[in-house]
Amino acid sequence: MSKIFYITTPIFYANSHPHIGHAYTTIVSDIFRRFRKLFGEDTYFLTGTDEHGQKIAEAAKNADISPLEFVDQISQEFREIWPELHVEHDQFIRTTDPKHKDRVQKVLQKIYDQGEIYLREYEGLYCVGCERFLDEDELVEGLCQDHQVAPQHYKEENYFFKMSAYQDWLIQTIQENDEWIYPKRYRNEVLQFLNEPLQDLCISRPKSRLTWGIELPFDSNFVTYVWFDALLNYPNALGWPDEPLYQKYWPHVHHMIGKDILKTHAVYWPCMLKAAGIPIFQKLTVHGFWISSGSKMSKTVGNVIDPLAMKDRVGVDPLRYFLARDMSFGEDANFTEELLLVRYNGDLANNIGNLISRSISMSRKNFNNQVPYKGNLEDLEKELHSSFVEGIAQVNQFVLEFNLHRALAQIALMSSLVNKYIDETAPWKLAKEENARERLGSVLYTALDMVRLIVQLLAPVMPEKMKIAWESLGYSQETLSATKFEIGLLPEGQALPQPSPLFPKIKELTETPTPPKEPSANNSTPSEFSENQLTIEEFSKVELKVGKIVACENVKKSKKLLHSQVDLGEGRLRSIVSGIAECYKAEDLVGRQVIVVSNLKPAKLRGVLSEGMILCTDNGQEFSIVEPHHDALPGTTIR
Ligand code: MSP
Repeated sequence: MSKIFYITTPIFYANSHPHIGHAYTTIVSDIFRRFRKLFGEDTYFLTGTDEHGQKIAEAAKNADISPLEFVDQISQEFREIWPELHVEHDQFIRTTDPKHKDRVQKVLQKIYDQGEIYLREYEGLYCVGCERFLDEDELVEGLCQDHQVAPQHYKEENYFFKMSAYQDWLIQTIQENDEWIYPKRYRNEVLQFLNEPLQDLCISRPKSRLTWGIELPFDSNFVTYVWFDALLNYPNALGWPDEPLYQKYWPHVHHMIGKDILKTHAVYWPCMLKAAGIPIFQKLTVHGFWISSGSKMSKTVGNVIDPLAMKDRVGVDPLRYFLARDMSFGEDANFTEELLLVRYNGDLANNIGNLISRSISMSRKNFNNQVPYKGNLEDLEKELHSSFVEGIAQVNQFVLEFNLHRALAQIALMSSLVNKYIDETAPWKLAKEENARERLGSVLYTALDMVRLIVQLLAPVMPEKMKIAWESLGYSQETLSATKFEIGLLPEGQALPQPSPLFPKIKELTETPTPPKEPSANNSTPSEFSENQLTIEEFSKVELKVGKIVACENVKKSKKLLHSQVDLGEGRLRSIVSGIAECYKAEDLVGRQVIVVSNLKPAKLRGVLSEGMILCTDNGQEFSIVEPHHDALPGTTIR
């Protein structure tokens, strides 16, 4: 029996238009689901919109239309954008769907009848953006950190769910399963939060304040809290409690979320499930945020990136590739059009696109528009084959671990290996030599066969482009989904149609970069240039190397400093102190690869010797380690 995989995205608030952040979550979920399908798993993919609550009621009021009219419009925008971004979901749920509402009421009634919901007066600080009450220690200078607004103060009677009763169970569940919340830093964050006593959860809103919600089945003066309604979409969409879809897929549910909604998914949700007698989810996978112009995307800041505009710039599939490749899964990443184009030209135009096009063109030219015969394979081919067998296993492993950027880095590396193989075997020279025809055939067959595997591996990420590439290899489009990852399966003699260029190089940025200042006549550095600028000679003095953290601990009596032992391939370990303890736990860094400035003058920080510096990005709020290519060995120089 095949394995089963059910993946969900958050259901997005129907209060504003889809942006690149929503697109990221949904596209990576789509990619994981397509990979699993390719591995032969039976899959189901759910997305949708979250349509109740104060935030939406307020947005509808501002637009001067009824909440239902308002959510109908926005929900439709989400529904329409997914096919445009090549997302293929199985179901789109809306929380205003009557079936969902009935099921939410059933769960509420069940927990109420069990005596786990009670009424009491409550006073607290409510953030409409988060749609939840915040604890005092979540505020910075009186503001919600995510939304930069002061929460509203409420004192009112409300119903509470006895969530505190589940604290010990939840801690034990997390501790017993290392992988349940992934990546680990988020698991640790949740455990840290659970060090403090867990409060009961306020699950209602009085109708005097909010009517746009699902009525409590046991008290018509209240509607239910929007998160209690929203989280239940995941089993409800499958027909909880007894429909066949639910029975088949629920035991295999994986939730994909952004880090902003970790608490609701890793704390509230498992407790709700436990109380409702619904098995808990298999895995919670948490990704970081796309940062635009240095801060989180928001309408008020005006830095929201429209996925459709980006798709028009490079095409949908390259945009999908960039999003999946350029965010180290779990960490934040910067979205700029420049980075998008660098990735496009580097990985897609110069590496993968070039490989596909030259392998097919040379074979067509020399072998009458057909795949040549394999002939005898030499050591070079055998080496390439074993790198591919290993590479494919690695990609599978990375995908199963939800380590998407690494899977894609591995595929790009495999493509570079084939390009290197072609450069070394130089088929254009073989074509001119006498008696080298068989060898030429073997080289081009090998290149095409490796292209076939790369196309198969990239199909979940760039489905449309890879269909075109697949056809260029002489296959019919439909067979791409039923492929095997074995060497040597490309049929000899298969007709090779004229390939169309997949990723033409893009030269210019749409936004004109600020023009450089006119150089002075004698070409010396103009005096108005900032003192920060370096000449090439000065910069070339900086030595950057790949390092691997072998051990790491907190520096005593310091909140900020971590002390790492780093392998730089020198036969000894470097002692390096870095100010990143507020962003990373020492134990999480062990085994990670970093980039080190390796020729800094040693210094002592808090009495600990530091012989280098670990490079990090800094978005003004937190540091994030810059990762080298995962295949680079300690000591590799960075130029
Ligand atoms: N409605 C709730 C979720 C309920 S799920 C039961 C909600 N909706 S939301 O519209 O605000 O979407 C939040 C999600 O959108 C994040 O968890 C993340 O998946 C995605 N993103 C929003 N902005 C993002 C970035 N800037 N970068 C990456 N993903 C982001 O919360």
